[in-house]
Amino acid sequence: MSDVFPERVLHAGSITLRPFSADDVEDNRTACADEVVQRWIPLPRPYTVEASVDWCTKTAHTLRESGDGIHFAISDPADGRLLGAVGLKRTDWHELVSEVGYWIAPWARGRGIAAQATRALGHWLLTEQGFERLELKAAVGNIPSRKTAIKAGLHREGILRKAGRLHAGRVDVVLYSLIPADL
Ligand SMILES: CC(C)(COP(=O)(O)OP(=O)(O)OC[C@H]1O[C@@H](n2cnc3c(N)ncnc32)[C@H](O)[C@@H]1OP(=O)(O)O)[C@@H](O)C(=O)NCCC(=O)NCCS
Repeated sequence: MSDVFPERVLHAGSITLRPFSADDVEDNRTACADEVVQRWIPLPRPYTVEASVDWCTKTAHTLRESGDGIHFAISDPADGRLLGAVGLKRTDWHELVSEVGYWIAPWARGRGIAAQATRALGHWLLTEQGFERLELKAAVGNIPSRKTAIKAGLHREGILRKAGRLHAGRVDVVLYSLIPADL
């Protein structure tokens, strides 16, 4: 088993998962500065143009090359516009376990896109990549993310006390998982 995910484009219904590029800088900056994203993900604050250039052109790619995971831009197949992000992090190549994370841009919310993207990524991880387990940790108070987990087919396992860190401080998280038997 390789310890780096291959660069890929995944097609899932009305969305495409593709690598980030310089074309995403403006939309990525607007979305990552959004107050809902900032409430639930401890991204740099303020989220500057420089932070966005770094993510889109460098960090999103070096994290894949380092073996930590893989980060996809969720985009509209019609015009390529950035709709959100979904990615894998903290990958354990020995146990074949990885953790998913996501955000959806304000202009694309309310259409279940995060669930669609998570389902596609989970299927790819557990079939093509031969993994045993996908995990998702959502803050107890993050209801849209918890609904997304269930809608994507993940199973709720329990509460991890103070296992999450937000700008507001540490929080309890709900652990969800997807395993090959769920597919
Ligand atoms: C979580 C997130 C990605 C979901 O975006 P999305 O795919 O557009 O999801 P939707 O808006 O379609 O909502 C998903 C579900 O949550 C529900 N929901 C949305 N906002 C809600 C709210 N304020 N209160 C209660 N339920 C809500 C929707 O009705 C939907 O439920 P349904 O499946 O029963 O119809 C998006 O809210 C987001 O980017 N949040 C900030 C970043 C984040 O929290 N990331 C996850 C960290 S674990």
